[in-house]
Amino acid sequence: MGNQSIKTATTTTFRIIHTKMPKTHTKCRGTNLSYPRNDKILRFPVPDNKVSWDTPYTGYKPVDYTADSVLSGPVWADIDVRKPRTPQPRWNTVDGKIDRQSHTGHYVIDEFGVPRNPVGRTGVRGRGCLGRWGPNHAADPIVTRWKRNEKFEVMKNTSNNKPVLQFVAIQRRDTGEWAIPGGMVDPGEQISVTLKREFGEEALNTLESSKDEKEDITRKLNELFCRGEEIYRGYVDDPRNTDNSWMETVAFNFNDDDGTSVGKFNLHAGDDAVGVKWTDINSEIKLYASHKNFIHETAKRLGADW
Ligand code: BGC
Repeated sequence: MGNQSIKTATTTTFRIIHTKMPKTHTKCRGTNLSYPRNDKILRFPVPDNKVSWDTPYTGYKPVDYTADSVLSGPVWADIDVRKPRTPQPRWNTVDGKIDRQSHTGHYVIDEFGVPRNPVGRTGVRGRGCLGRWGPNHAADPIVTRWKRNEKFEVMKNTSNNKPVLQFVAIQRRDTGEWAIPGGMVDPGEQISVTLKREFGEEALNTLESSKDEKEDITRKLNELFCRGEEIYRGYVDDPRNTDNSWMETVAFNFNDDDGTSVGKFNLHAGDDAVGVKWTDINSEIKLYASHKNFIHETAKRLGADW
């Protein structure tokens, strides 16, 4: 996709830069093969050279697994469309309020009548713990500021003289890993709204703020989030992905360049987060799913140390 501007709300202009498709996935094949949140479920091994659906893999027998929490029919999940006489979703389009389009393009419907992972085999069939067949859409706000000393001067890495960037990272309740405070796009929701809502809920704990605090936070967030730089839009190498359900995201960077707005927020973990902190960005960081790639791209764009 070339550079373009989109208006997502009357006051919000986001600049879209590009879309990328990962060549392969690794976090949903894993080293110990067990599926997240259920270590009794073991993925069928898929070596690197058998990930592509174009390569025949005789004897490929992925385990069929959909978590009970998904099968119990919560609002965020689809029904089991593989059962006979079940109404079929409208794949590859906006189906009612549910966006079943993939950022990667048109996906294939497999021999069981369900979407096929566009990157390749994962060793698990079904939905695992994801609610939707096909793409499950998330949005990731990368909120950054320059690291500063007590005199409010921007700190640099002395070996290369590059300024050090920090971003707001949360610790996920499910895996304990540090991550961008992203979350799922609700049906019919604008991505710009998801970005703000998730950041508020997970990094500022707005779910438990008073009415006055909430108003103040909302005003400041509106100011910061009205200009964002798109960092990534596409498939995510997420440990929950299966042959039929996968995560996609849109990641935006909001940089508080002079450190006067978000850089001053008090961070409080909330909702799906158990910890939150300003984290120095460098090549050593370890993050959930493909988040390290998004952070690297952000650092490059802003000319920060890595
Ligand atoms: C997370 C996002 C992440 C996405 C894909 C969602 O559950 O909240 O931060 O990018 O999954 O891994």
